[in-house]
Amino acid sequence: MLLVMPVVRLTNHRLRNSQRRQRLEIQGLPVRFRLAPPNFHRPSPSAETVFLRPAPDAFQSCPLGVRHWSLGIPTMSSLVFTIANQKGGVGKTTTAVNLAAALAEKKIPTLLIDLDPQANATSAIGIEKQAGRSLYGPLHGEGTALERIVATSYEHLSLIPSEEDLAAAEIELAQSENYLAKLRNVLEPLKASGSFRAIIIDCPPSMGMLSMNSLAAADFLLIALQCEYMALEGLGQILRNVERIKGAGLNNTLELGGVVMTMFDIRTNLSRQVVDEVKKHLPEKIFNTVIPRTIRLSEAPSFGKTIFDYDPLSPGSTAYRNLAKEVIARFGLK
Ligand SMILES: Nc1ncnc2c1ncn2[C@@H]1O[C@H](COP(=O)(O)OP(=O)(O)O)[C@@H](O)[C@H]1O
Ligand SMILES: [Mg+2]
Repeated sequence: MLLVMPVVRLTNHRLRNSQRRQRLEIQGLPVRFRLAPPNFHRPSPSAETVFLRPAPDAFQSCPLGVRHWSLGIPTMSSLVFTIANQKGGVGKTTTAVNLAAALAEKKIPTLLIDLDPQANATSAIGIEKQAGRSLYGPLHGEGTALERIVATSYEHLSLIPSEEDLAAAEIELAQSENYLAKLRNVLEPLKASGSFRAIIIDCPPSMGMLSMNSLAAADFLLIALQCEYMALEGLGQILRNVERIKGAGLNNTLELGGVVMTMFDIRTNLSRQVVDEVKKHLPEKIFNTVIPRTIRLSEAPSFGKTIFDYDPLSPGSTAYRNLAKEVIARFGLK
């Protein structure tokens, strides 16, 4: 059984210090809540940002052993990042999962959306696929994205899982009206709810309907680029798709947020050359952090764990933590 995260709105709720530890019940669960740390992003001075945290006894009856969740409420603006690239096996999912986990580790309320029918991100985070839990329904006008959110075993990290039926959405969406704006419309209420500061979308390895929808829905595109021959050619293709979306008037504010170089192999000159080349073309966009090729990063998903859980002191772990620091600074996530 997966626990669906309850959604609560405490608009302009003012809490005094003496009220920091209160109890309330949400959907029958006792919940303790506390104020967000003082340095937390707070766009409106008249509103308090509140984290909700369940009391320890809240999950005694939860078979999955889900331990934590939290919600940032109510006035954070969410930033939507899509990790898209028409190529498979370049490190999109590894980056989506571990970047999301690293942001959550920094107490940034983060939602990972698995938009790939192969559901690799879902299993990598230790959640079982379950029929009816993906965005397939909402993309077809049935139910909402909010209802599809599940808690993970990581604090501050939630997930909208994937399942195989999303593959059908690739074909079916093309036959509907406004087919490129579907995901954008589905995510609108989620963004407006302010429950998450960062929403990260993991895309399938093609520039089909789902990936194009994610471009139309995102504030920023993050590109995972493998340090390999012809990397720049792949980059050009993705950037042309960004222009297509913008040209169609679907998302005028979409921006390339950054390029993450993945699977850097210190033993080859090629890796270094590819990084230098991308740096020359996109000096402002390439992240300084380069993700090394390491066995530990490729092993972690088969245990349903993030790299921080699987091998917290490994080079892969350090790299994704550093990437998260850069992302936080670049996009003002704190
Ligand atoms: N930095 C890395 N070092 C070693 N293996 C990696 C690394 N990043 C990803 N992998 C492995 O490479 C394969 C493809 O990565 P993945 O993130 O699934 O790519 P994509 O989502 O683009 O298809 C997976 O088996 C993954 O575990
Ligand atoms: Mg993938």
